[in-house]
Amino acid sequence: MRVVVTGGAGFIGSALVDQLARRGDQVLVIDNFSTGSEKNLEEAKNASAEDLVVENCDIRNPETTKLIADYKPSVIFHLAAQADVRASVEDPLIDLETNLVGLIRVLEGGRKAKTRKIIFASSGGTIYGEPEAKQLPLNEDTPWNPLSPYGVSKLAGSLYINTYSSLHGLGGTTLALANVYGPRQDPHGEAGVVAIFAGKLLKGEPCTIYGTGMQTRDFVYVEDVASAFMASIEKGDGKLLNIGTGTETSIQQLYKEMALAVGIDSAPEKGTERSGEIERSSLDPSLAEKVLGWKPKTSLRDGIHSTLKWFESKKEENS
Ligand SMILES: NC(=O)c1ccc[n+]([C@@H]2O[C@H](COP(=O)([O-])OP(=O)(O)OC[C@H]3O[C@@H](n4cnc5c(N)ncnc54)[C@H](O)[C@@H]3O)[C@@H](O)[C@H]2O)c1
Repeated sequence: MRVVVTGGAGFIGSALVDQLARRGDQVLVIDNFSTGSEKNLEEAKNASAEDLVVENCDIRNPETTKLIADYKPSVIFHLAAQADVRASVEDPLIDLETNLVGLIRVLEGGRKAKTRKIIFASSGGTIYGEPEAKQLPLNEDTPWNPLSPYGVSKLAGSLYINTYSSLHGLGGTTLALANVYGPRQDPHGEAGVVAIFAGKLLKGEPCTIYGTGMQTRDFVYVEDVASAFMASIEKGDGKLLNIGTGTETSIQQLYKEMALAVGIDSAPEKGTERSGEIERSSLDPSLAEKVLGWKPKTSLRDGIHSTLKWFESKKEENS
């Protein structure tokens, strides 16, 4: 099958490209390498070099529409994005241009190519805002209430996808992802606390926990997330589905688990609470199980071990 993966050189996108390459699909990656890297695609190139085409292109550029129209994919996975909540508050225009103008460029390519469906990476941690604790884990009936421009653009993205479906017959599934972690996550960014802790713990540097550390997140392993995208190829048309574990893990708990795994017993440093962060978060994945037959397979403990192993191997490569 011919598919396009926008953002395919990124953390989640490259895990998805690996699964597609192993299955023998023909893949066109469109990425501007702003946060992604060629290195993330090495495994996929080794698995199927002749079936993997990589185009260095910004999704805001009209060239994106042409690339997709010419490639004629059956399915588009749309993961390229301005994915930083804080950056969206600082510069909402860049967020809007990347996450919505870019999306329209991609959708127009799909329309011209008569693509069967698009599978879109949305954000379950932001589109629902901060609901009451008794609503956790959140299901898809939770009212939308994004609290950042990023949350708004991700929510609007899924509405555009529904609109293209009814206007042009381009099918769509939106996956509202929880906090994704695993190999290849960038430890230098704002997000990705697992990657940040992994980087610091392996260097023997202290980790900082901002606020009480009792704030919770729903950590879902990247391979499981890539599998949810794969499961959406044939199922889930017209749906928005939560992709998480349904389990809350506090940042304190996460730190303990990771420190134990590397054999460190020192306490983390305390930083002042960051404004604008939600207190608790978890997503109910039952609808995804019903519709896609998908559920997360990797326990947090196993996922942390694989992630640390990967960061350790990179450290050795770079030393
Ligand atoms: N990581 C998470 O926990 C999480 C949670 C919810 C949603 N998401 C969504 O999943 C998707 C992938 O996120 P990720 O964590 O892999 O981030 P990432 O930054 O590793 O991947 C994004 C990719 O898109 C590319 N990109 C960015 N802007 C682009 C542009 N204008 N044109 C072309 N390519 C561009 C980047 O170079 C990168 O390869 C994003 O849409 C993000 O919003 C991620």
